[in-house]
Amino acid sequence: MDLQLHRPEALLRHSSLPIDASTTPRKAAELLRDGKTLMLNDRYGTGVNILTQLRAVLNPPSLKASYVERQNFKRAFEQASHRLLATIAQHKVALIDAPENGFYAELYSEHKVFALPFIEVQRLDSAWQYYDVGVHMSVLGYRIYPFYGTYVPSRLSHLELFGTWLAQYKGVHARAVDVGTGCGVLALMMCRRGFGEVLATDINPNAIESVSREIGRFSDPPPLTLALADLLGTDPTPVDVVVFNPPWMQGNVDGALEQALYYEAGLFERFFDQAFERLTEEGRVVLVFSNLITLVQPDVPHPIETELKRGRFTLVQKLSRKVKPSVPKNGGRPRKTREKVEVWELARA
Ligand SMILES: C[S@@+](CC[C@H](N)C(=O)[O-])C[C@H]1O[C@@H](n2cnc3c(N)ncnc32)[C@H](O)[C@@H]1O
Repeated sequence: MDLQLHRPEALLRHSSLPIDASTTPRKAAELLRDGKTLMLNDRYGTGVNILTQLRAVLNPPSLKASYVERQNFKRAFEQASHRLLATIAQHKVALIDAPENGFYAELYSEHKVFALPFIEVQRLDSAWQYYDVGVHMSVLGYRIYPFYGTYVPSRLSHLELFGTWLAQYKGVHARAVDVGTGCGVLALMMCRRGFGEVLATDINPNAIESVSREIGRFSDPPPLTLALADLLGTDPTPVDVVVFNPPWMQGNVDGALEQALYYEAGLFERFFDQAFERLTEEGRVVLVFSNLITLVQPDVPHPIETELKRGRFTLVQKLSRKVKPSVPKNGGRPRKTREKVEVWELARA
């Protein structure tokens, strides 16, 4: 498959002030906040310190802040952090202590020298860690190696709950579709559970690249085919199980990775239209979801309940499990949460 992969845009021309550790991180952060573009000149760590200070000078929202306040901060940080640049020369970040990263040679083979926002350098570097070292998926029993720009689940409780559903599903296992496959974990779980054929779709080309490379790692490849496509894709073959772990919140989508987290109006309506058309008589639609939308966006109509009210599908069962309290990265007491993960199983009415 010839995919046009997403990558941070290479900056070939820019006007910037050189910056190094002789300027305090606080001062550099204030310059970024005030609209100046800076080019890092010494160490990787200087960039890390400046971005840490940038969060502080932009007044991060409190834990109790509203969704809108948090989104506003996120937007302000994204804009200001993109004004801190680093040079990439001969496929390496030209800073002391920069980690090795094979993505520069792969994604920017046509450029010898260019600049990237340092925040994107950090994102490329942490993505390389995932890709190079892999992420152990207990629900699969092995490591997967997500490609740059692909959604990687940071928690497992929703995947475990899907595993519970899958273990007790006694219906036909001929053909399934994993809509929005990301790094392929749900599709691979279905292959492991004996589905004859699994189609995995995503609108993000990097996700399709990721799962394609994953398939390439097997000596005996799973029965998994891929389509870079919107929702269920265009193949009209009837399907026994349609699985979708959709974005869990409504919001504006800016960039491929945000498509994993936020959905725009109309996504669920189109999904249910396609699923209804494609599902076999005894087929199942399985949505991996959460009560987050009810907690954070109480005014947004619940997309699954709205569809159920239309009467095309009935609810077979809904599994639900509390999310474990998360431990803050800087230590401290685990944060309590009212969040629950859910698996909704729907059949034709
Ligand atoms: C929450 S992530 C789930 C990824 C993966 N299935 C998992 O469970 O870890 C949602 C995925 O849906 C994809 N997506 C969003 N809108 C889509 C659409 N209209 N058609 C296909 N995929 C879509 C995103 O790119 C993302 O990979």
